[in-house]
Amino acid sequence: MCGIIGYKGPENASEIIFTGLKRLEYRGYDSWGIAAKKDRGLFSLKRAEKLGEFEGKLPETHTAIGHSRWATHGGVSERNAHPHLSCDGNIAVVHNGIIENYQELRKYLMSKGHLFSSDTDTEVIAHLIEDYAKAHPFRESVLKAIEHLRGSYAIVAIKADEDEVIGARKDSPLVVGIGDGECFLASDVPAFIDHTKKVVFLGDEEMAVLNNGAEFYDVVTGKEIEKEATEVEWDAEQASKGEFEHYMIKEISEQKDSLLRAVAHEDKTLMDIADQINNAFGVFFVACGSSYHAALTASYIFSKITKKHINVVYASEFPYYEDFLTERTLMIPISQSGETADVMAAVKTAKKKGTKILSIVNVMGSSLMRASHSCLLMNSGPEIGVLSTKTYTSQVALLTMLAYACVGKLKEGKELVRKAAEAAEELTSAESRIKIVELASKLHKEEHMFSIGRGVSYPTALEAALKVKEVAYVNCLGFCGGEAKHGSIALVYDGMPCLVFSPSDETKADILSNAMELKARGAYIIGVSPENNETFDCHIKVPDVGDGNAIVDIIPVQLFSYYLAKLRGCDPDKPKHLAKAVTVR
Ligand code: AGP
Repeated sequence: MCGIIGYKGPENASEIIFTGLKRLEYRGYDSWGIAAKKDRGLFSLKRAEKLGEFEGKLPETHTAIGHSRWATHGGVSERNAHPHLSCDGNIAVVHNGIIENYQELRKYLMSKGHLFSSDTDTEVIAHLIEDYAKAHPFRESVLKAIEHLRGSYAIVAIKADEDEVIGARKDSPLVVGIGDGECFLASDVPAFIDHTKKVVFLGDEEMAVLNNGAEFYDVVTGKEIEKEATEVEWDAEQASKGEFEHYMIKEISEQKDSLLRAVAHEDKTLMDIADQINNAFGVFFVACGSSYHAALTASYIFSKITKKHINVVYASEFPYYEDFLTERTLMIPISQSGETADVMAAVKTAKKKGTKILSIVNVMGSSLMRASHSCLLMNSGPEIGVLSTKTYTSQVALLTMLAYACVGKLKEGKELVRKAAEAAEELTSAESRIKIVELASKLHKEEHMFSIGRGVSYPTALEAALKVKEVAYVNCLGFCGGEAKHGSIALVYDGMPCLVFSPSDETKADILSNAMELKARGAYIIGVSPENNETFDCHIKVPDVGDGNAIVDIIPVQLFSYYLAKLRGCDPDKPKHLAKAVTVR
């Protein structure tokens, strides 16, 4: 996944693009670049470094494009960084997506004399546009070039002798910002939220032309189309780090607010979804990563509260369930970004079978939102940190309320989430962090850990393990406590840290005996629990909020993984090899 941006207007475009790229760095940060109209040509600069390391100067200009990269085709290098230029250097293109037929296009273009300077798939787009621009206006040549592309694309392009900034998309996000006498194109709203909250979400195979304002076209017919602008509900403050050192710690800290925003969903909205669940013949939660852990947590809550069995499937595995689907099946894809390629592929599979798609997603206008029959917007606010933190707890909270709504107890469910929000405030307080920081300091040289739980705390253990792995690069194995004796216990060594989730519920006695098994073999037991216990070598106290512990018990480990990352010299906002949305399969 990469971040792309374009600007046309009276302000200094280079500055706007550079700042916008910083807001998009969560989408990819192994290299970046800018191209701008300058004098009678194009200025272009590319760097295989982080934006924050750049100390150079950028030219004054009013038309520019930019790109922050997460490498897919072609290694991390300046030559593979975007923008990519045509042979004559008069056309520049930035791209997010994958051009599946790029080798064939590259051969075709080379046979026509085009010379390539990178190993990327994207560069073929610049040369295709150049080829058509010999006999067509810029806008036409972009449309004709796109006809050749197979795969996913969100592109922004400029041409030295044209004033327009052109953007088009298919299967990768692209949003238009409409300002006062200025317009923006970007992969995501945070890139230009400082300048305008008025946005137009481009649909698949649609094109935007920024000139004096924005015009919209259907890529297939070439005809002009009408698009409606909407107002984004959150503001620049929410999309910036503010006084926090990293987005990750900011977003961990704002979980009381994000949980209260979950509670603020209209009763009718939640009841309508509950009706769809109650009337379906078979319900599938489909997700990846943290969203999958939220879904798995919800399956225990649905079992307990509604006595319903919900199928929970990794999105990447879902296509293998295809034969199981009917028109009465309800698929609930859960995705923070709404751009996860595995989720989108699962939705495509399900729609082929006539299955209803009701998505739970955080990003308004995302591909998943637009591909669904109905959608519950999470309203967690923008989550810029690569790690899912506040959106994970919001997902568990929303799914918990839906379970209660299914049995006509939505009021009770909302009350539970309000209690969880209070607990989140306590867990993210300065006082609560002291012990977490001490624990991180004690353990920051460890390379292996366990994380165990039972029942509804088993997915919490999985989520905890994912946090520690993805931001501190510690090999943390998450599994259900009862499985330790079936193999993993062989890994225990003297002093091996083991997170044990032990809420005051029906799993308590059993998870404590699992912890004892590990302790007896030398493990260092970290109990995440409302009450201390002689089995714990370290007790991380959490408030007892009943079923709400499934929402908040992860918070101490979100904090633990953050401080562990810092102590281990890792960048919590730019974990290696990861991007905020995984738009490749
Ligand atoms: C979570 O910390 C990870 N960054 C990752 O597992 C993420 O949850 C997963 O890629 C799913 O993303 P989505 O919710 O945007 O679909």
